Amino acid sequence: MAVRNSGERPEWAASARLSFNDAMRLNAWLARAGVASRRKSDELIKAGRVTVNGEPGQLNTFVQRTDDVRLDGEPLQKQQLAYVLLHKPAGVVTTASDPEGRPTVVGLVGHPARVVPVGRLDADTTGALLLTNDGELANRLAHPSHEVDKVYVAEVKGDPDADVLARLEQGIELADGRSAPARARRLGFGRVELTIHEGRKHQVKRMLSAVGHPVRRLHRSTYAGLTLEGLEPGDWRELEVSEVARLRHTLPARGADGGAGKARPS
Ligand code: URA
Repeated sequence: MAVRNSGERPEWAASARLSFNDAMRLNAWLARAGVASRRKSDELIKAGRVTVNGEPGQLNTFVQRTDDVRLDGEPLQKQQLAYVLLHKPAGVVTTASDPEGRPTVVGLVGHPARVVPVGRLDADTTGALLLTNDGELANRLAHPSHEVDKVYVAEVKGDPDADVLARLEQGIELADGRSAPARARRLGFGRVELTIHEGRKHQVKRMLSAVGHPVRRLHRSTYAGLTLEGLEPGDWRELEVSEVARLRHTLPARGADGGAGKARPS
């Protein structure tokens, strides 16, 4: 397995653009420390269980690197940022925990940082999945306005012709609205490559069903320019310095805490 499990501070952390030193909102800080999700952290803050430099934390408290943050009086430490690219195998669900007890991508990666998937792949879909504890970047990647490319290879029933490919490219009327223009090309008999930037539930399967070619097998070959080169199903690796920098620099930040609004699954 091409697993690289670094407990060390990554080299790119020294870069000013990827600084650990920026002030961040208390709920985001708590999420980064692995305490809870941002929403659950808000509840902890409202319950008065979090202090910053001895004072009760508020929902609008911003935390600096040197601040003393405590939960129920116990000091907390912010975790390092981590970015993991997983070659998701089939049969693994894209969540941190599954009520049905199925294996999860978070369990499969087993990263010491509290990384969570950016967006979602169906349990039977294989391919490129990014996991991170960098909520700011995850929000940017998942926000529809950034039009992050996701490339899927679908094995379908039948053999889509040029007319079908053109319809996929123009957008398909789905139950939740028309899909945005996509790129579609035939790779061989019953094999289609579809590049989309939306992230609606079962979108590729629904688009291909709508044009009469239900999906038999679905694989995401590329996510935001990240390919699976060198990764077998189930393998993962940390992103390179240059890959994190590229993602950060090509997706402009929005809003006070860097979030781009409400994230949608990708
Ligand atoms: N579209 C789908 O239909 N399924 C996926 O897993 C991803 C995109």
